[in-house]
Amino acid sequence: MLSVVVLISGSGSNLRALLEATENPLFGAKILAVGADNPADGLAHAEHFGVPTFVVSPTAFASREQWAEVLLANVQHFKPDLVVLAGFMRILPQNFVSALSPNLINTHPSLLPNFPGSHAVRDALAAGATTTGVTVHIVDEGVDTGPHIRQAALDILPDETESELHERIKVIERQQLIEVVRDIAQKKIHLTQLSR
Ligand code: GAR
Repeated sequence: MLSVVVLISGSGSNLRALLEATENPLFGAKILAVGADNPADGLAHAEHFGVPTFVVSPTAFASREQWAEVLLANVQHFKPDLVVLAGFMRILPQNFVSALSPNLINTHPSLLPNFPGSHAVRDALAAGATTTGVTVHIVDEGVDTGPHIRQAALDILPDETESELHERIKVIERQQLIEVVRDIAQKKIHLTQLSR
């Protein structure tokens, strides 16, 4: 059974989808804990499923590296095989990434390398893109630059708002993320090979 820690910052709809998927013992993965950088609404999903939570806010630390050390200690307490960033909206410093990568993956609402960063949906609309999508990728020391694991595209509709588009993206994103975690658990995806 693949053991997973999920980190979130917001509403946690991707987390919820993973929690539901892992209820099936045949899925092959189990979420041990959920962490956040703030008292995020999405932590309620973990509590609903009886999964422990922790919050490590950067505001309590003098530097990003000190914050990341404590976040990492909280993650490693659970000895996960995989750490999933599911709407975790902070850039993780090198000390965190190098301790976990390639067993550290992120889901991002664009077809990377297009529109990295924290406003991917807004940036795609502002650029006049007609297609966007989702990328699940290994986290490396850059911002949304790590090796891609899976991508899925969708057409942008005329006059679509940022929130409408993001909601449509999230529907396919949840499916992609579930399939990636399942395939890692079932050894159909080998993160070490992808990161070479
Ligand atoms: C997701 O669309 C995720 O890709 C995005 O935040 C959303 C979280 O939704 N992450 C990023 O933009 C990271 N750069 P959720 O809280 O409902 O799962």
